[in-house]
Amino acid sequence: MTGFVDVVIEGKTYQMPVIIGSEGEKAFDITKLRDQTGYITHDPGFGSTGSCSSSITYMDGDKGILRYRGIPIEQLAKKSSFVETAYLLINGILPSQGDLNEIRTLLNDYSMIHENMQDFFKHFPRDSHPMGILSAMVGSLRSFYPEMQNDEEAVNKKTLRLISKIRTLAAMSFRISRGNKVVYPRHDLSYCANFLNMMFDGPVKPYTMDEDVVRALNVFWILHADHEQNCSTAAVRVVGSAQVNLYASISAGIAALWGPRHGGANMAVIRMLEDIAERNIPVDKIVKMAKDKNSDFRLMGFGHRVYKTFDPRAVIMKEMCDIVLKKLNVDDPLLDIAKRLEEAALTDPYFIEKNLYPNVDFYSGIILRAIGIPTNMFTVMFAIGRLPGWISQWIESTEDPRWKIARPRQIYTGNKKYDYIPIEARYI
Ligand code: ACO
Repeated sequence: MTGFVDVVIEGKTYQMPVIIGSEGEKAFDITKLRDQTGYITHDPGFGSTGSCSSSITYMDGDKGILRYRGIPIEQLAKKSSFVETAYLLINGILPSQGDLNEIRTLLNDYSMIHENMQDFFKHFPRDSHPMGILSAMVGSLRSFYPEMQNDEEAVNKKTLRLISKIRTLAAMSFRISRGNKVVYPRHDLSYCANFLNMMFDGPVKPYTMDEDVVRALNVFWILHADHEQNCSTAAVRVVGSAQVNLYASISAGIAALWGPRHGGANMAVIRMLEDIAERNIPVDKIVKMAKDKNSDFRLMGFGHRVYKTFDPRAVIMKEMCDIVLKKLNVDDPLLDIAKRLEEAALTDPYFIEKNLYPNVDFYSGIILRAIGIPTNMFTVMFAIGRLPGWISQWIESTEDPRWKIARPRQIYTGNKKYDYIPIEARYI
C-alpha cells in the first residue's frame, strides 16, 4: 500500500488505500467502501475492477505486452516448451534440468486413465460437444482416483496428474467419438508428441511425427497457457473461493471457456471462414455486416477486452501458421480469406476507431486444421493449454491470506414489496 486517494461521497471525503503493482498499475482498495459509505461500485463485466493481486501474468493491452512470471511471451514461444512454461507458471521460476527430468517421469506415470472412465465416455450421446464431455470428465476425476480425494496430497503431484490426464482424456474423447480404438500414452514421447500420437496413430496408418508440428503445438499451448483474470480464470477463482476441490474448479473453467465470446471463438472463426468460402461472400460484405448494428454478426477472432493495439499472441500465431502450412505443404483457401479479411478490417474506420484487432483465435484454427485437429476439438485444445494458468491462479488464490468467498453485490431493480395475490384474483 502506498498512500490514499480521496473519494468524496455526498460531501464527505473518504480515504481509500492505494495499491501499486510492480509494473506501476494503480488501484484503490474499496473493500471497506460499503461499510463506510453505504455505496457499492457498479461495474458489469468487471472492466474496472481488480478482483485480486497476482504475481503470475502481466499484460498491457495498450502496448501489446504479455509476460508469464516476468518473461515475455515472445521469448517463451521461441525458446521454451509447454511443459517448462507450465512449471514456470505454477512454481514461479524456470525449472532446473533435474526438475524437468522429474516432471517428465511424473507426467508419464500419471498419463493413464482409469479403465472405467472409458465406459463413462461411451455413454455420452454421439453428438455431444467435446467441451461438455471434458468438463464432466475432469469434474469426475476426483471420484475415479481415490488418491485425488486426498486434499493434502502434494500440490505438484495433484497438478501434474491433472496436466497429464487432461491430455489423455482429450485424445480419448476424440478417438471414442469416431468409434476408433483408444491409443495408450507412450513413455518415450514428449508431452506434445504423445498427444499427437494418441490422437492420430492407427494400426493401418501409423502416425508420422514431424518436429515442426510438435513445435507448433508447443507454441500453441504456450501462447494459451495463461491470460490473467479472463472469464474462465475468474470462474476457476470464484468457484475455488467456495473451497471446492481443484478438479471441480477446473471443470468450471472449462465450461466458461466453451463460450463463443471466449475460447469457443477459435471454432467460430473457422465456421465463419468456411461459410464465407462456401457461399463465396465478398470480404467487404462481411466487414459491412460486422459493422451493422441491426445484425448480431461480429467478426469472429477480432477484438479483445484488454488488447487495444495488437494481441502479441496473434502475431506469433500468424508466423507459426505460415511455417506449418509451408512445412505440411497445405494450401488452405481459408488462410487466404483470413488474410484478406484482416487487411480489410484493419483499414476500416469502424475497426480502427473501436481498436478491434485480430486476437489469438484468428489464426490458431488454421494451424489446428493443418495439424488434423477437427473443428469441434479446437476449444479442447485451448483448454489443455490454459490448464497450467488455471492451476497457478487457483493455487495463488487459495494461498492468499485474504482468501474470501467471492460474493459480489448488486443493484436491485425489481419490484418494490407487494403482497401475494391469490390465484383466482390474478390477471382479471
Ligand atoms: N466485430 C464487430 N464489432 C465488434 C467486435 C467484432 N468482433 N468486437 C467488438 N465490436 C464492437 C461492439 O459491437 C461494440 O460496439 P458499440 O460500442 O458500437 O456498441 C464495441 O466494439 C465494443 O465491444 P464490446 O463487446 O463492448 O467489447 P468487449 O471488450 O466487451 O468484448 C470481445 C470483447 C468479447 C472479445 C468482443 O470483441 C467480441 O465479441 N469479439 C468476437 C469474439 C472473439 O473473437 N472472442 C475471442 C476473444 S480472445 C479469447 O477469449 C482468447
